[in-house]
Amino acid sequence: MVVPLTDDIYWVGVVDWALKHFHGHELSTHRGSSYNAYLILDEKKVLVDAVWTPFEQEFMAQVRELIDPAELDYVVANHSEVDHAGALPALMREATNAELLVSEKGLESFPGNYHADWKMRAVANGETLNIGKRDLVFIEARMLHWPDSMFTYVTGDNILMPNDAFGQHYATAGRFNDEVDQHELNHEALKYYVNIVSPYSNIVTKKIDEILAMGVPVDMIAPSHGVIWRENPLQIVEMYQEWAAQKTEPRAVIIYDTMWNATARMAQAIGDGLSDEGVDHKLLQMSVTDRNDALVDVFNARTVIAGTPTFNNGMIANMAPIIEELKGLRLKNRLGATFGSYGWSGGGAKVLHERLAEAKFRMIGEPLEVQWQPDADALQRCREFGREIAVATKAG
Ligand SMILES: Cc1cc2nc3c(=O)[nH]c(=O)nc-3n(C[C@H](O)[C@H](O)[C@H](O)COP(=O)(O)O)c2cc1C
Ligand SMILES: [Fe+2]
Ligand SMILES: [Fe+2]
Repeated sequence: MVVPLTDDIYWVGVVDWALKHFHGHELSTHRGSSYNAYLILDEKKVLVDAVWTPFEQEFMAQVRELIDPAELDYVVANHSEVDHAGALPALMREATNAELLVSEKGLESFPGNYHADWKMRAVANGETLNIGKRDLVFIEARMLHWPDSMFTYVTGDNILMPNDAFGQHYATAGRFNDEVDQHELNHEALKYYVNIVSPYSNIVTKKIDEILAMGVPVDMIAPSHGVIWRENPLQIVEMYQEWAAQKTEPRAVIIYDTMWNATARMAQAIGDGLSDEGVDHKLLQMSVTDRNDALVDVFNARTVIAGTPTFNNGMIANMAPIIEELKGLRLKNRLGATFGSYGWSGGGAKVLHERLAEAKFRMIGEPLEVQWQPDADALQRCREFGREIAVATKAG
């Protein structure tokens, strides 16, 4: 069903309740998602964004409820990724009079992804387009999160349509932030930030400063996934500012895996050392923990303590995905430490140590390796290591 945001502006997207994985299987989406598109019926008829390809017919039906697609004057495509532009081929076949408006970088990515011959024009950063009672203002948002990303601002109703920024993978019956569970909403907004946006934290800060400096009123923030921020819409901007700054709290997370529990017992002893010094922490065994959820815990912690048994001279394979991801996320202001059990050669924890150092973690001490199952002495050393890590964590 279509949902009005204000007079003449409608949500015409789709809710994907069943989505459990996104970006292939790269991202878990336990609470589904939505693909939001917005129709503006002013003197000019404008559609902002579309939806993912499998939902193109559902989306076209939403649009047709309000307008014959042939009456569209403009289709604004803020971003070429298939979850928003995948339905464009179906739409543009019927929107025969519409001009497709994209960012400058979109001139490369739209043909690159769709190989279609659309009437397409790039709008400049800051360009204004009058559509009757309202203007659309286009704001380039390069690398938030693709080169082509763009925000569209609607004057009069003061609605910012920032596409992927400020979104959440969160399927809901209500379309607005004041209609849903606040705890779930905040969690999904953070998980989305950590897993998708955090590598671009510096750009987030700059872009937000730039928009706030424009001094324009913002009554709604209508992203391309999840709910529309209507009640206190700037709360999500403030959260992004805080997340982008990455000021960490003195907490730790122990991410590890184990075959026969030796490394797990070390993890527990290190945890006891953290507790001795009053440092809150979690133990996450990566073979049974969702990586994207674990990254939220990592993001919330100052210190990452990574453990692995030595496995064929290196780390166990279940640790590799999160370690690889930590490199890509380029987290700031983080401390690291590593540990693990081995049988003969050792070296697994050293590999972890090198990887975390490469990912710009400031490493505490040397890798702590214990041969075979830890005895009471070894567990004591682990606990002391935990205390040492706690002291460093508190010092920041
Ligand atoms: C398939 C396999 C490969 C292993 N490769 C190595 C190795 O290359 N070097 C080493 O020192 N230990 C190696 N080990 C021994 C383990 O590191 C050792 O058993 C350790 O205590 C396991 O810790 P965990 O109980 O935390 O899994 C290997 C063990 C297995 C089962
Ligand atoms: Fe995207
Ligand atoms: Fe998206």
